[in-house]
Amino acid sequence: MSFRPNPRHPYAHAARLPDGDEAIPLSTLFPESDPNGPFEIEIGPGRGGFMFERCAAAPDVHMLGFEIRLKWAHIVDERLKKAGLGARARVLGEDAKRALPRLVPSASVRAFYLHFPDPWWKKRHEKRLVMGDVLLDQIARLLVPGGTLLIQTDVEERAAQYEAQVGAHTAFVMAGDEPGSPRIADNPFGARSPREHRAIADGLPVHRLLYRRNLADGNV
Ligand SMILES: C[S@@+](CC[C@H](N)C(=O)[O-])C[C@H]1O[C@@H](n2cnc3c(N)ncnc32)[C@H](O)[C@@H]1O
Repeated sequence: MSFRPNPRHPYAHAARLPDGDEAIPLSTLFPESDPNGPFEIEIGPGRGGFMFERCAAAPDVHMLGFEIRLKWAHIVDERLKKAGLGARARVLGEDAKRALPRLVPSASVRAFYLHFPDPWWKKRHEKRLVMGDVLLDQIARLLVPGGTLLIQTDVEERAAQYEAQVGAHTAFVMAGDEPGSPRIADNPFGARSPREHRAIADGLPVHRLLYRRNLADGNV
């Protein structure tokens, strides 16, 4: 079920999924474009730089962003339209954990991106965390066999935690630089997120994990 923002919220008019619980075919979110995608989804695009850079790097891509902060969902969605990308790139003001279960068909998304998710550390913020079994089950359902999941963070402890969480999920195979590891030195998608650019400019390490969706027989 999607959440309803307070109608007095200054960005309550941000684009969102249709109200209700019905399943939503991905192609209906891009009505003026190729119904077959290819589709890629960014969870929490924030200020949205990755959406623009990825559209430039992959001219066929249909990018969908789910951003829980309505202000940034709206601003980035409007900027995409102004840049002439509105037919194949959208940001919707949604909690990804509630939005992904509504998307169909399964096995239709080429790539998922989680750039610097969950900056919160305190125990009391645990409920806010986007990463977890609910999200991973949906990513596993929606990815095409062989499709990719990229996770980036500048906090090594978080990277180790994500590595343990995704590693425990049978749908994903490690696709790192070395066999038996999900770690990659650089981002192979030709596009960087705002926080990634900042980490690089500040000389902070960026920890990157890359996975592929299993084929039905468990191999990629
Ligand atoms: C630390 S920021 C990183 C922003 C951007 N990915 C980057 O790398 O520059 C994390 C982003 O995830 C968003 N976010 C957190 N939980 C979310 C959820 N459940 N669904 C959608 N977006 C979420 C936050 O609002 C924020 O924009």
